[in-house]
Amino acid sequence: MNLAAQLAPRHPQGLLLNNPVMTASGTFGYGTEYSQMFDIQKLGAIVCKGTTLEPRDGNPQPRLAETASGMLNSIGLENIGIDALIKEKAPIWAGWQVPVIVNIAGETVDDYSRLADKLDGVAGISGLEVNISCPNIKAGGAEFGTNPDSAAEVTAAVRKATSLPVLVKLTPNTSDITKVASAVAEAGADALSLINTLNGMAIDITRRRPLLGNVTGGLSGPAIKPVALYMVYKVAGVVDIPVIGCGGITTASDALEFIMAGASAIQVGTASFTNPRTPLDVLEGIEQFMKKEGIDKLTDLIGIA
Ligand SMILES: Cc1cc2nc3c(=O)[nH]c(=O)nc-3n(C[C@H](O)[C@H](O)[C@H](O)COP(=O)(O)O)c2cc1C
Repeated sequence: MNLAAQLAPRHPQGLLLNNPVMTASGTFGYGTEYSQMFDIQKLGAIVCKGTTLEPRDGNPQPRLAETASGMLNSIGLENIGIDALIKEKAPIWAGWQVPVIVNIAGETVDDYSRLADKLDGVAGISGLEVNISCPNIKAGGAEFGTNPDSAAEVTAAVRKATSLPVLVKLTPNTSDITKVASAVAEAGADALSLINTLNGMAIDITRRRPLLGNVTGGLSGPAIKPVALYMVYKVAGVVDIPVIGCGGITTASDALEFIMAGASAIQVGTASFTNPRTPLDVLEGIEQFMKKEGIDKLTDLIGIA
């Protein structure tokens, strides 16, 4: 069976994964944390924690709240910063078989450009995933990804600063995600990842205060799966670059739904918190399905629905 997934067909070197199962940024650390629990080298790719120019402590506690079929988080991009990532993590990744994609986040277009420039040519890094769900401080804090123009501007800046494959991660918190997707594809993205978390909040009625220290947070987990699936379906219908599906994927059948909706690969996020082995279980379940249904090539299933 051939499970290979090409994520950057327009890129000179391409980004060929052995299989379509990736980890979602912020839910799998730097990969190192999970390597004791199962053979992470079997995965298609690992996307690391969102990385900024400077190290960040993140938002005030509490930063997590459980919801019906999901969770809210307001981690606030706590991370070690790009220089430590290059010095401490990339040399480990360079010895791995599984490709590692670095998720980057900034507050200005220049931040993204500098991050991409610093990562260009670093051994152990196979691609970038650009998180555009970040507040644009020069535009009053609106997320870059809510607007096709600012989303395209970030994409073009990153594209110019790196020779690595560029994945752009879309936010669902916009009125028409297909417009942002088209603008980002036009601006030079090799692939699109979607979706990031949906804006949400919870209130502690005893304290009469918002439950999260940051007041609002991002909703993830099975609760968002139908929304994510809908957006993948819509976006895959309008762009001619690969789409990576993410949002509530917990089982192989969830993953197969995304693939049949048009995703070339998928990412497992929140599900890894309840069972760290979920990405491998999802991969094995996809293989079993293909065997049972007599499907030789995973690509035959992409967009079939
Ligand atoms: C605790 C937590 C941290 C996250 N951190 C990031 C991040 O740093 N960068 C990013 O692009 N997405 C981040 N995300 C979003 C996930 O990568 C994913 O897009 C989202 O959670 C939906 O997938 P899921 O329902 O499978 O978790 C984070 C999600 C969670 C739950």
